[in-house]
Amino acid sequence: LRRITIRDIQRMHEERVPICMVTAYSYPQALHADLAAVDIVLVGDSLAMVELGHDTTQFVTLDDMLHHCRAVARGCRRALLLADMPFGTCETSTADALRNVTRMIQEGHAHGVKIEGGKRMAPVIEACVHSLGVAVMGHVGLRPQSYSARGGFRAFGTNASEAAELLEDALALQEAGAFALVLECVPARLATAVTTALRIPTIGIGAGGGTSGQVLVYHDLCGMMTHPHHAKVTPKFCKRFAEAGAEIHRGLVDYRTAVKQRRFPTASYAPYQLPDAEWERFG
Ligand code: KIV
Ligand code: NA
Repeated sequence: LRRITIRDIQRMHEERVPICMVTAYSYPQALHADLAAVDIVLVGDSLAMVELGHDTTQFVTLDDMLHHCRAVARGCRRALLLADMPFGTCETSTADALRNVTRMIQEGHAHGVKIEGGKRMAPVIEACVHSLGVAVMGHVGLRPQSYSARGGFRAFGTNASEAAELLEDALALQEAGAFALVLECVPARLATAVTTALRIPTIGIGAGGGTSGQVLVYHDLCGMMTHPHHAKVTPKFCKRFAEAGAEIHRGLVDYRTAVKQRRFPTASYAPYQLPDAEWERFG
C-alpha cells in the first residue's frame, strides 16, 4: 500500500483525473475514508462545527486540531493527509506560522497543511513551502475563518470586483508555491475560469463541476447532520451520498427498546462460562 503524495496529485491533474478529497476528524472516519480510496483526507477546521458543536470555525484551537489530526493519522494509511491551520495560527507573523505549521507536522502527523486566505497570506505560504519544505494547499472564495469581517457565510465572487479579487488571490497563491487551491462557494463559471488560469489543481466545494477535484465534509455527504433539533442543515451544494444519521438513529432506538423490553442480551450474547465445578466451589 503506497502512500499518495503531492506528486501523485500533480500527475492526476496533468492527466485530467478528478481529485477526490473528504474531511475526517477521528480514527474510524479516517479508516472509512481510506477504505473508500479517496486521494486526500483533510482534517478540516470544520471540526469546530460538525464534531465540537460550535457555530463557526473560529473556536477551534491548534491543540484541538493536533488531537484530532493524530487520531486521523492512525487510520489514514494511503491517502495524503492534510490539516487545516486554524484561525489565528498563521496570521500574526511568518515566524508564528512556521512554528505552528511545524507543530501540525511533528505533533499532528499531517503530511501537509491548508491555509485559508487571499494574497496577503502569500508570504507565509512561500515561507512554509520554501523555508520549511511543507506542502501547502490554499483556500479562497468563502473563507469561514473571515466570518466576522465578511459578516457571515456568503458565496464569494458573485460580482465583478469579487471575481477579479478571487483570480488575483489564486494567482498570487500559486506563485507563492501552493500545490493546490480550495475554491469554496464560488459561481461555477468563475471557478472554471480560475481553474483554466492556473497551472495547479483546484478543489471545489459548492463551485460546480469545472474544478480539478472536489471536497465535501464527511458529515454532510454521509447524511449525519440530520438531527431534528440541530440547526445546521446539509448545505445546498452538498449531495447526500448516504443516510448514516438515520441508520445510526434506528440502531440506537432499537437498542434502547430491546434493553427496556429485556430482549437484549439473549443467551447467545452471554459468552463467558463459570464451569460447574467452579460454580459448586463458589457455593
Ligand atoms: O474545514 C473544512 O472542512 C474545509 C473544507 C470544506 C475544504 O476547509
Ligand atoms: Na476549513
